[in-house]
Amino acid sequence: MSSKLFEPLAIGPMTLTNRITIAAMCQYSAIDGSMTDWHLQHLGNLSLSGAAMLVIEATGVTPEGRITHGCTGLYSDANETAMKRVVDFVRSVSPIRIGVQLSHAGRKASAERPWEGRGPLNGESAWETVAPSAIPLAPGWPMPVALNRAGMDRVRDGFVASAQRALRMELDFVELHSTHGYLISEFLSPLANKRTDEYGGSLENRMRFPLEIARAVREVWPRQRAMGSKISGTDFAEGGWTPDDAVAYARELKRVGCDYVTVSGGGVVLDAKVPTGPGYQVPYAERVRRDAGLATGSVGLISDPHQAEEIVASGKADYVSLARGMLFDPRWPWHAAVTLGADVKYPPQYERAHPKAWPPGRQVKSS
Ligand SMILES: Cc1cc2nc3c(=O)[nH]c(=O)nc-3n(C[C@H](O)[C@H](O)[C@H](O)COP(=O)(O)O)c2cc1C
Repeated sequence: MSSKLFEPLAIGPMTLTNRITIAAMCQYSAIDGSMTDWHLQHLGNLSLSGAAMLVIEATGVTPEGRITHGCTGLYSDANETAMKRVVDFVRSVSPIRIGVQLSHAGRKASAERPWEGRGPLNGESAWETVAPSAIPLAPGWPMPVALNRAGMDRVRDGFVASAQRALRMELDFVELHSTHGYLISEFLSPLANKRTDEYGGSLENRMRFPLEIARAVREVWPRQRAMGSKISGTDFAEGGWTPDDAVAYARELKRVGCDYVTVSGGGVVLDAKVPTGPGYQVPYAERVRRDAGLATGSVGLISDPHQAEEIVASGKADYVSLARGMLFDPRWPWHAAVTLGADVKYPPQYERAHPKAWPPGRQVKSS
């Protein structure tokens, strides 16, 4: 049986050994933006999964660009040293491609960790948030400050400086977070961006600042390393970002030198109607892949190996991106390989667990 899911994939200058990637997942376990031992075990563990690519969680490019006090940052030497320790560790145990998702949380910053309620911080622990327009995320959330040009420069420069830190760590790729209602997607979405200057109004205007950031990062991020973005296929809300907008944005990202996009969606408004179900965002990836013509991944409730195989074999996406499924089963790619009759390389220390090494009658069952 041949499996497309386990075929290599070239993403710009980066070659993946298969088409299974691990999505960025915030761990809310950093201290002052610096990774801790939790990240060592979390990313170390996932790096042994058999997936080809591992995206480090949404990482604030400025302190106020973090979502919570527990989010990682890449705005200080201490942050860089702490992340480098984790990246070096991952590299010492796994050949996985590893990169970081650079992010600014915009009006969704200054929030509680999920297990503390997810709501806005209050009192001394809160900080002032920024956004394209002074519109709160939802009732009860603080009024963000609408960014002026100086503030936008600071954000853009934060992305650039963080990319330079990522380069010093020799990460394989950087990914710009442009979905889920964080700052870049706030600029893109007509629901959060009500500006009347050249950064608001038309799609071209709303894309202007995100593309300024992408261009500035590309200038310092060498062509020999991949750059990508996680984008929205839709806001899932009336009057919001559409699949046509996603195609236009992906085309522009490609033009400024992006090598891949992972298509997600939602998050700009809290009352969006998201029709969650297996592979619910696949059609958006399919559209972007077909009409923008750059390496495209699909994310969102992909958890069954046959489903993942169908997505890539039918050309709906070039790769799949898994988040919760990978936390639930950190050996998902091993199990998918058994199910699909494919092979995946195990670390030599674990080779005796490979189905081929099991004695007859003790074969691992596929799901
Ligand atoms: C614990 C957790 C943390 C997440 N953090 C991020 C993040 O840092 N950046 C991001 O783009 N998406 C984040 N997401 C969303 C996932 O990357 C993914 O887009 C979403 O969960 C859908 O994929 P899934 O159904 O495979 O979980 C997070 C999801 C989970 C479960």
